[in-house]
Amino acid sequence: MRDQDVFTQVGVAGAGFMGSGIAESTARAGIPVVLYEPEEAALTRSRDRIDASLHKAVAGGKLAAGEAQDLLDRIAWSTDLRALDGSDVVIEAIVEDVTLKGKVFREIDAWLSPESLLASNTSSIPIAQLASWTQHRERVLGLHFFSPVPVMKLVEVVVGIETGADAVLRGQAFAEAIGKVPIRTKDRAGFIVNMLLIPYLMAAVRMYEEGFASREDIDTGMKLGAAHPMGPLTLCDFIGLDVLYAVCDSLYEEFKRPEYAPPPLLKRMVVSGHFGRKSGRGFYDYAGAPAQARA
Ligand code: CAA
Repeated sequence: MRDQDVFTQVGVAGAGFMGSGIAESTARAGIPVVLYEPEEAALTRSRDRIDASLHKAVAGGKLAAGEAQDLLDRIAWSTDLRALDGSDVVIEAIVEDVTLKGKVFREIDAWLSPESLLASNTSSIPIAQLASWTQHRERVLGLHFFSPVPVMKLVEVVVGIETGADAVLRGQAFAEAIGKVPIRTKDRAGFIVNMLLIPYLMAAVRMYEEGFASREDIDTGMKLGAAHPMGPLTLCDFIGLDVLYAVCDSLYEEFKRPEYAPPPLLKRMVVSGHFGRKSGRGFYDYAGAPAQARA
């Protein structure tokens, strides 16, 4: 690690499933984190989510009970975005809404030290667009995490056309500092992983939509036939159908290739509010599962 790659505080804007996971992984590496959400209720859900995740880590022998408490002590939750000021890295992990992201990026860029990295966990919005809202485009990059963040080792470091070489090195160093493996990708829709993953998932959705096989058989096929930890339809529900729809849309918009077009069923499910696990209904029904396990 270079001398300048010291991370004394990290800010995360957006305390949903991804933001909370990023905060947990960062705090686990001994780095203090400030997590922001405008609503107190969302922060309470974030605390519960991290608590539940740490319980799993302790139960699975990945973390000692005392370490879990120390980790929690390193996380501060705030409804004031300005609480992220003073962070060496700020990671935006709010919903995939261009207008909202624009507002948050402009605001953070106005007071965050130009020396600090300003990153986004977006999986569907160009880094170049996020950077265009800022005065310091060279420090803007993508740090794309995978769900569930505390378990998944990968971070895609997304290099925008104006991202500086130093920001890329620091982004990689940050990923390594929190125990992740960075891979570098250019800024185009899907990056590396979603460009490969989405056609596979959408092929499964189309197979189900056409009535070719049952959802259970499609999932069992890929679990037992290809050793995937989850079948594709379960994985769609896990990622969130709204998120997947946004990724498909951005891939289709960029490449105009049919394998990226969101299948009609996916669109119908999203407009009906069937987002998967987090809403209680997707390809499967989760209404009986505790909210904490779903969120
Ligand atoms: N910290 C550290 N380790 C933890 C932990 C935590 N907070 N919580 C759980 N673990 C460990 C457990 O101890 C367990 O370890 P072992 O395998 O050694 O026993 C392991 O993680 C799995 O945990 P659980 O058994 O509790 O399983 P789970 O049901 O919570 O999760 C799963 C299982 C990890 C999700 C697994 O099914 C899986 O890997 N699924 C595929 C996930 C995937 O593909 N994600 C990528 C989605 S794409 C994306 O995110 C990008 C995008 O842009 C769309």
